[in-house]
Amino acid sequence: MAKVWSNRFDNSLNPFIEKFNASISFDNTLIIEDIECSIAHAKMLGKTKVLSAEDTTKIITGLETIKIEFLEGKFFPGPPAEDIHYCIEEKLINLIGETGKKLHTGRSRNDQVATDIRLWLRKEIDKIEYLITDLQKSLFHVAKKNVYTLIPGYTHMQRAQPLSLAHHMLAYLEMFQRDRERFKEVRSRVNTSPLGAAALAGTKIKIDRSFTAQELGFEKIYQNSIDAVSDRDFSIEFVSASALVMSHLSKISEEIILWVTDEFSFAKLTDKCATGSSLMPQKKNPDVPELIRGKTGRVYGHLQALLTMVKAVPLAYNKDFQEDKEPIFDTVKTISSCLKAMTILINEGIEFNINNLTNSVEKDFSNATDLADYLVGKNVPFRSAYQIVGEIVKNCLERKILFKDLELDEFKKFHPKFEKNIYENLKPINVVKSRISKGGTGFDQVEIELNNWKKKLLL
Ligand code: ARG
Repeated sequence: MAKVWSNRFDNSLNPFIEKFNASISFDNTLIIEDIECSIAHAKMLGKTKVLSAEDTTKIITGLETIKIEFLEGKFFPGPPAEDIHYCIEEKLINLIGETGKKLHTGRSRNDQVATDIRLWLRKEIDKIEYLITDLQKSLFHVAKKNVYTLIPGYTHMQRAQPLSLAHHMLAYLEMFQRDRERFKEVRSRVNTSPLGAAALAGTKIKIDRSFTAQELGFEKIYQNSIDAVSDRDFSIEFVSASALVMSHLSKISEEIILWVTDEFSFAKLTDKCATGSSLMPQKKNPDVPELIRGKTGRVYGHLQALLTMVKAVPLAYNKDFQEDKEPIFDTVKTISSCLKAMTILINEGIEFNINNLTNSVEKDFSNATDLADYLVGKNVPFRSAYQIVGEIVKNCLERKILFKDLELDEFKKFHPKFEKNIYENLKPINVVKSRISKGGTGFDQVEIELNNWKKKLLL
């Protein structure tokens, strides 16, 4: 197929270089957006009288036909077209003849691709927003059922203080909420129209940028034509927000992987989301969270790739930018599938061993802070109380007993202010209950938070 620029060149492209240069194998993802962008552009040229009413109708009808053919599976954008923009333009010319050659008046592929990718990304961000909300809802339901289920809280992966399982789950809801907010911000910058910047300098053709922006649902337009075609910040912001989603997903994945081990036994996998081993008949593997954890690396990699892609690239458009598509496409695919898989896993893939969880906090020293706080309540300075409890822990460890196994006399030997009610104070359920500070794990606080989330998630 002759290139559009063939008149300017004496020789045709080396076949390998032709393929090397082409992006059609992946940017055909943008076909619908490319057609919509062209329809808006043609409408605008009709409005400003650059195109006659007849030509405008012909072009728009042609573009609509291409869209329908594609949606009905009758048209497959692909080589030898170099990219989706040329592909649609060529197809239009084939379909409606000479008039099709007027479509590209007053625009460049530079502002065209910048517009297409924003339209596509805006739509995908909206879908991702739904997927995150679905995951939040599934975590909310686990939280709601488990206000009084206790789970050891860890710092440095060492037993720290007992928690309400609901509180643990609500921590993830907060992270995913921040993710949603980040996407909202990214979306507002994605939602800016570069169309009309043309190659880099604007155009002498009578165009109406606000009109195309409005047609395409953009909130605003880029103010500087050079910036409009050179900006890839928005892709980096998008992948960065996605990388954080993946980091949150990888955390919960890692926890689930630990929870379902024999060593932890906090939960078990149902058959719906687990796989067996080809060799070891006893195995039930947590492939889903492992895959999510593993896929996190892809998205981090894409972020690195994009940051490096834009580094030191001079103004304005440079072909380097063609390289933004595959990382963006793969990021969308990866985070969407991981969010979906995690939601299914939470909804039907894991069952908590409620008794194991609650019992697990009975046999440790995670109530040590409460022992110290008990003395603080009796006017002992915290640092002194802390040191006294340190001695008690040491004594118990040597004797292989727990706090609750100490007689009251023994407690009193460490400090005379210990009273009989110390035993009630040490019970994990009371330990959790007593964390009444705002945002803490106390049951009343957790109930308040659950109510807030119920409203926020419109449940
Ligand atoms: N396929 C190109 C891309 O994705 C389209 C823009 C090409 N512009 C140019 N001046 N060669 O970036």
